[in-house]
Amino acid sequence: MPVLLDRVDSTNTFLKTHFDDYPDGTMVAAMEQTAGRGRMGRSWHQKRGDGIASSVIFREIGAGFHAGAIGGLATLETVRSAVPEADFFFKWPNDVYCGERKIAGILSEGIWRSGKLCGVVCGIGINVNDEVSALEKIGRPATSLFALSGKKFEIKKLLPLLEKSLAAHYIKYKFERARLIGEWKRENRLIGKTVELIRPDGERFRAGISGIDDDGNLVAVHGGSVTLFGCGDVRIDAADIFK
Ligand code: BTN
Repeated sequence: MPVLLDRVDSTNTFLKTHFDDYPDGTMVAAMEQTAGRGRMGRSWHQKRGDGIASSVIFREIGAGFHAGAIGGLATLETVRSAVPEADFFFKWPNDVYCGERKIAGILSEGIWRSGKLCGVVCGIGINVNDEVSALEKIGRPATSLFALSGKKFEIKKLLPLLEKSLAAHYIKYKFERARLIGEWKRENRLIGKTVELIRPDGERFRAGISGIDDDGNLVAVHGGSVTLFGCGDVRIDAADIFK
């Protein structure tokens, strides 16, 4: 079992504060998270029993986005094993989707000392038992394992699955880095599609996605030229992704 906290503001904040107190690969989870954080300054709500809120320390990491790839692949494996009949996929950079709805998100935060990346805290949030009425209040299309399967899950039974998958993917990363990053790229269903990209300043544009480069950027073709898109959001709709 991971280090299990009953209630915390944010498992990412907790592990960043206690980065020196835990060894490489430690996973911390919380039954209730009161001030969860998401990408781009957003918040991540999680009531007791509704979802997985967990964070893991990766010390032997070459680049920040590699942590997202390890955490993302473990998340994908966990949701697939919980609801095998659902078609889960990555939406760059590390959201896990089913159809047009998000089920899980990842927040990787680098720990920098003297200008050097000495580790990453990789936070994983998964919607598990959320009712449809609660998901509708998020304000963005979202789903949960319950909404997809009609079944409720015991969080304490799912956590060891995620922990085991994280450990396996981290070992794979240490020994077969290119293979793991290749898997992460292949699971991103944006490649070959035309989608809307949204920069942090709000600028939006449609672009064709031709791939993901070795620094984790989307390679976007827009107005006849190639743009590397490394930070921002991607908006997808059924017409873009499933045609
Ligand atoms: C996103 O989709 O924007 C990323 C969401 C990440 C949420 C998880 S929940 C556990 C960990 N602790 C946090 O405060 N955030 C991450």
